[in-house]
Formats: sequence, C-alpha cells, structure tokens
Amino acid sequence: MERIISPSMLSADFGHLDRDTRMIDESAAQWIHIDVMDGVFVPNISFGFPVMNPIRQASAKFLDVHLMIVNPEKYVKRFAEAGADLVTFHYEATDSPGNVIRMIKECGVKAGISIKPATPVDVLADLLPELDLVLIMSVEPGFGGQSFIEGSWDKVRQLRRMIDERNLPVTIEIDGGVSAANAGDLYAAGCDALVAGSAVFRAADPKAEIEKILSAQPTR
Ligand code: DX5
Ligand code: ZN
Repeated sequence: MERIISPSMLSADFGHLDRDTRMIDESAAQWIHIDVMDGVFVPNISFGFPVMNPIRQASAKFLDVHLMIVNPEKYVKRFAEAGADLVTFHYEATDSPGNVIRMIKECGVKAGISIKPATPVDVLADLLPELDLVLIMSVEPGFGGQSFIEGSWDKVRQLRRMIDERNLPVTIEIDGGVSAANAGDLYAAGCDALVAGSAVFRAADPKAEIEKILSAQPTR
C-alpha cells in the first residue's frame, strides 16, 4: 500500500505562503492539506477561498481540503472551483451526509468525511460505499500542535476492518498529533494518509522530516 503524507498548511508561515507551498511542492509529499475553519463548527477561524488560490497556483499536487464548517453543502462547489481535488466535510456538521457526498462528487472531485474524536466509526457503515476517504480526527479539530489522542488507534483498526471486509476502495487518513514518532505505527495500523502540520513546519528541515515520516518504521 502506498504511504501518503499531507502536510497541513495551517502550520505554514502565512507571510510566506508562496515560499512554503513551493517547498512542499518540491518535497516527497503527495498531498497538501488545507484546513478551513469557520469559528462556528470549531472555536477557531483559519482561511477560505482567497488563500486557496495562491496555494493552487504554486503547486500541482493533490489538494486535500478539510472543511471544519457548518452547512458544508453551501460551499463545496466553491471549494471544488478553487482547485480542491478532495473535499472532506464533518459528519457532525450536517443532517444529510449522503447528500453532501453526492454534491461533492457532482463537482467532479473526490469526497471525504471526517469524524471527531468522540464520534464512533460505526456511524459511517452505510456511507462507506459512497466515500473516497474517511478522515479520523486524532485531536479535537480547531488547532494545530495538540497531542495525539490514544483512543484513535482502535478507531483506525476498526475502520480498516470495516473497509477490508467489504473490499471497498476507501482511503483512511488521520489528522492531529502525527509525527515521525508515531507515523510507522499509524501506517501499520491501517492508515493510508497522514496529515502533519507542526511536525513538518516546525522541523529544522521540513523536506527531510517529510521523508522521515514516509519511511518511519513501526515501534510496536
Ligand atoms: C486541526 C487540523 C489539523 C492540524 C494538524 O483541526 O485539522 O490538520 O493542522 O496539526 P498538527 O499536525 O500540528 O497536529
Ligand atoms: Zn485538518
């Protein structure tokens, strides 16, 4: 299985967004993670469409957009138009996740759903055949730099089983508190894609850190 890393631009230097995007573009990372926060679904506000444009212009990599917003159905089309390759919304942010998935696919981009730490993976059982990706939050969404929640291991393993039993082509991504220290175990537990913000951007050599995460060995 291919190991994917998606550095989170939330931890980039917004005064040098072009430089930091080009740096990721030249790295071994396959994806670029874009965290959109509305101050309602999460207690923080990040950025929206105007900030996506320079990122899209500076890189041809796969843009992995993580919407932490209420009423995602209102905005999926605009994120697709802004250059998203994958739009992931939160299960907890809508009453009709199936409709949001369909709307995203109608835009011609991949559809992902994310669950907060307290949401069990079972809620996704019926939606899995419609999805391209499930994003497990391993911290409370809203801020970078938090510690990995240990309860996430069981969620990854359970979701891996649910997907493999039905032989579904669904990618498992995990977000929050990921570093080279737990990356090997996360890939081994069944994650396909790891999001890493502070671990990458606070490293002395972000490109080397990306390679370290991609080649990390399991510790258990
Ligand atoms: C948090 C965001 C994450 C964040 C991760 O709500 O969804 O993508 O950037 O940051 P780190 O890797 O520092 O935990
Ligand atoms: Zn994220």
